[in-house]
Amino acid sequence: MRRIGFLTSGGDCQALNAAMRGVVKSLVNSGEQVELYGFLDGYRGLIYGNYRMLDISDFSGILTRGGTILGTSRVPFKTIKDPDENGLDKVEAMKHSYYKLKLDCLVILGGNGTHKTANLLREEGLSIVTLPKTIDNDLWGTDMTFGFQSAVDIATQSIDYIHTTADSHGRVFIVEIMGHKVGFLPLNAGMAGGADIILIPEIPYDIDRIVDAINLRKERGARFTIIAVAEGAISKKDAKLSKKEYKEKLEKNRSKYPSVSYEIAEKIQEKTGKEVRVTVPGHVQRGGSPCPYDRVFASRLGAEAGKLILKGEYGFMVGYKNREIVKVPLEDVAGKLKTLEPDAAIIKEAKMLGISFGD
Ligand code: F6P
Repeated sequence: MRRIGFLTSGGDCQALNAAMRGVVKSLVNSGEQVELYGFLDGYRGLIYGNYRMLDISDFSGILTRGGTILGTSRVPFKTIKDPDENGLDKVEAMKHSYYKLKLDCLVILGGNGTHKTANLLREEGLSIVTLPKTIDNDLWGTDMTFGFQSAVDIATQSIDYIHTTADSHGRVFIVEIMGHKVGFLPLNAGMAGGADIILIPEIPYDIDRIVDAINLRKERGARFTIIAVAEGAISKKDAKLSKKEYKEKLEKNRSKYPSVSYEIAEKIQEKTGKEVRVTVPGHVQRGGSPCPYDRVFASRLGAEAGKLILKGEYGFMVGYKNREIVKVPLEDVAGKLKTLEPDAAIIKEAKMLGISFGD
């Protein structure tokens, strides 16, 4: 008999349920007896002892279901060691929940922040296995996270839809794409959607180069231009500011520019005289059913996590490297961000296709 806890933490994404289902199915099909505990709303459930016992039937019919059956929340790592508003030691409280239920291990599904806390719990002696989720694909130690491909599909569709209206009106359109501080999602959706310009955080832009690219398209007879802008896109000028200065600048301009795209749009309009519109698909990118790739990928990761649990191998994230599923020590994953290299082959190829990065 194994007593296994589950929690999903941080921003949700597609295929969280598929991944948990994969873990449970692989354990049950091995003949293992299991008792399953689901902590509600991420680490919050573990801290405050909010859980529900799960039955194997809870994992039926959820392969295609978006979101997470357990709920999620953001509990920032930077304050995890601070007592809560009632003086509760959150780390001790999490350990208490784990030991009280006599868990053999805890399966944690999450992204960057989640992995820092998961590693802390490992250091505190808990048996942890993690699974890499995020639409941003910015988790170190894995070439791919689940949720990413589903979000690429949705963001691509947004760009596809914008094409027709951009063409009809002869406008410049900005589609702002999530991805937090990295460009994997905007780059892939931008290329898949045939964007003419793609702005990503790893390649700071110069507004005049963007204008050059728009004018060049006009000279060649194009009526419209589509720009895929990462929510974390940054100008060359702003990239020179300290983190604090840049944050202050964004805060100061928040009412005028709700996000980076609006400032870019205003400047393009000023410099080209063209009508510019901004579309922000936002959390739609994290919603709905996982795409087939993510269903398969998350199920595979889940099955391999089940294998680690059966072998009693803890302290690992189940990741994907060079087309193989691998186990990555949590201490290696925690606190590292995976970013795009500005000279990566995919960026060179995008440039060969005529895509401008505004650099
Ligand atoms: O990390 C996933 C993500 O969707 C990012 O792409 C985005 O910046 C962020 O979460 C949004 O967070 P929230 O759901 O808290 O608004």
